[in-house]
Amino acid sequence: MKKIFLDLGLQPITNNFLNSLNKNELKREFFYNLKVTFNNKNNLVSLSNFVKPSKMFNEKYAHRASMSKTMLSSFKNLANNLNLKFKPKKVLEIGSNDGVFIRNFKKDNVIAVEPCKNLAKLTNKMGYKTYPNFWNLRLSQKIKKKYGKVDLIFSANTISHIPNLDEVFSAIKIILSKDGIFVFEDPYILSVLKNISYDQFYDEHAHVFSLMSVSSILRKHDLKVVDLEKLNTHGGSLRYYISHADSKYKVKNIVNKYLKVELKNKLNSFATYKRFGLKVKKSKFELLKLLKRIKNNGERIVSYGATYKSATIFNFCKIDNKIIDYVIDTTKNKQNKFTPGSHLKIYSPEKQPHQKVDYYFLGAWNFKKEIFLKEKNFILKGGKFISHVPKVKVL
Ligand code: TMP
Repeated sequence: MKKIFLDLGLQPITNNFLNSLNKNELKREFFYNLKVTFNNKNNLVSLSNFVKPSKMFNEKYAHRASMSKTMLSSFKNLANNLNLKFKPKKVLEIGSNDGVFIRNFKKDNVIAVEPCKNLAKLTNKMGYKTYPNFWNLRLSQKIKKKYGKVDLIFSANTISHIPNLDEVFSAIKIILSKDGIFVFEDPYILSVLKNISYDQFYDEHAHVFSLMSVSSILRKHDLKVVDLEKLNTHGGSLRYYISHADSKYKVKNIVNKYLKVELKNKLNSFATYKRFGLKVKKSKFELLKLLKRIKNNGERIVSYGATYKSATIFNFCKIDNKIIDYVIDTTKNKQNKFTPGSHLKIYSPEKQPHQKVDYYFLGAWNFKKEIFLKEKNFILKGGKFISHVPKVKVL
């Protein structure tokens, strides 16, 4: 049974950056109630109501995975490692975005699936066969008929976006070769609980996984987790290595170790999530207190990164341009637009209206290292950062 443990209020589509704040545009802005549930049957954390995928993943999709140097280099390393380890003849990627992963493979060996048509067009142009569709059973059958089974399936930050997980895994099951490997990575619920990073909940994240919940779903499809990696990208993710239940792969110790850690942290108990919900309320209170204090001192706060995560924060905490002046972001197709719901103007870092910024709010807190390196001068001149994870504070 699913039970709600967190209500983040009315929220917009995080990818819906507004071109202007004229009446018509504002009238068209879509809002839904963002509530988060725990299912005690399979220990899965999901949104109470899923937003229709075509509302989120369409030809207007703004996010470009290769915008970040961290992402570019980590996907390159990963592609090399997977190639060495599994020597796949045929590779399939589900949710290929702007090709940040597949660009590391030979064009003939890769098939990509990407429902955002603008992105699929981009990688097709680069010479990578990309299906501009949602991943489902029908598409998997179609690809299998044309190319046969595949030895490596990869998916980063996509499986958690798909409401119907049973369909995801049945579609994987039929196309994965006998000793093939399905590698996927998504935000980890234990990191969310520890960091109080409630901003991991937004329209696109239909689910936030634990190993327990993934294993429970895999069992229904005769698949198993054979290996795991903990990742720091996106503020704490797990990378799951999955094979057929009767494959040649033995389950590595780390899998049992993580199951034990999850049991110790009571990820199978509603009370754990309920407690987290109370901590989120406190985090909101602390953040507003800090931001308002700075503002009352006459200092300027700008948000760093027009991230999806910050859409949840700004709309939940009701932060507008009375508190945060504007947002900076390096992504060209977010610039000169307005953030969803909170309507803050987004500027290129080079073209921001004020040269003197006192505080940057780390909307892209998961890229803290990369940003601090880039902003050495700002820090040297006494500039400060604010983050809400794991605790609201000035850094
Ligand atoms: P995400 O966390 O939703 O993936 O988005 C990260 C956003 O942050 C993306 O729009 C790019 C932006 N960004 C910058 O503007 N400057 C930076 O230095 C980094 C690392 C990211």
